[in-house]
Amino acid sequence: MDVYGLLGNPVGHSLSPPMHEAAYDELGLEARYATFEPEEDDIGDAIRGADALGIAGLNVTIPFKQAVLEIVAPEDLATRIGAVNTIDFAGSGPPTGYNTDAVGALRALREHDIALEGEQAVVVGAGGAGRAIAFGLADAGATVAIANRTESKARDLAAAVPRATGHGLAALEQLLADADVLVNATSVGMDADATPVPEDALHGGLAVLDAVYSPLETRLLRDAADAGATTVDGAWMLLYQGVEAFEIWTGQDAPVDVMNEALRSRL
Ligand code: ATR
Repeated sequence: MDVYGLLGNPVGHSLSPPMHEAAYDELGLEARYATFEPEEDDIGDAIRGADALGIAGLNVTIPFKQAVLEIVAPEDLATRIGAVNTIDFAGSGPPTGYNTDAVGALRALREHDIALEGEQAVVVGAGGAGRAIAFGLADAGATVAIANRTESKARDLAAAVPRATGHGLAALEQLLADADVLVNATSVGMDADATPVPEDALHGGLAVLDAVYSPLETRLLRDAADAGATTVDGAWMLLYQGVEAFEIWTGQDAPVDVMNEALRSRL
């Protein structure tokens, strides 16, 4: 029996267990996915304990993503982002840390036939999600403009991301006029009918991904659809970060449709 799980605090409402277990059932894998809530000070012990117990893989969420970077051997992208959300315990050396949030966003866009290479992308938000998405888009060859309520955070992030620029939210209208891709990486719109992007700034030449998945149809996505833009909801990003983790851990192609169904039936 392979044991996987999620480390976070709190993790009670996570959709990762049903999403991963649906994949194990589909492929006939002898595996389970559990949730663990260590105290913040115990994160090092938790990971060393998981390694000693032979746990196969862990996802990591708030508040541990940054701290875990210091405990595992992080991949280059995770190091640049400054956060780990997936740990693979395979092999005899220190466990490897990955950041599949970035790749999850890219796959969500690519699976909707949205091109990134050479395109102009705007990321709203410069927190944990914004960092991962900005690095991911830049790695995929997009030119990235980062707009954040706290402009200094956007500028600091832009200084670390290749070809990126940092702005306040007031610049959104101008930035979006020439943009091909827009990603909301703020929490605005979560469980509220609010949007960080002025409706008038949206247009039919945009593809819009909202990292918020509750509700699935955020005000931003509704405005974007009204403007004729292509829309991608946050459940796709959640799905593909899980798909990436599954594939790192098992070395098998994930049953994406089954995982998607398990996720969406609970949203
Ligand atoms: P996460 O890890 O989910 O990205 P975070 O690191 O707390 O969470 O970042 C939250 C992001 O949402 C930030 O970009 C934040 O902007 P600030 O850096 O200015 O705080 C943004 N955000 C949260 N509430 C917002 C609001 N009401 N309007 C605009 N941006 C908001």
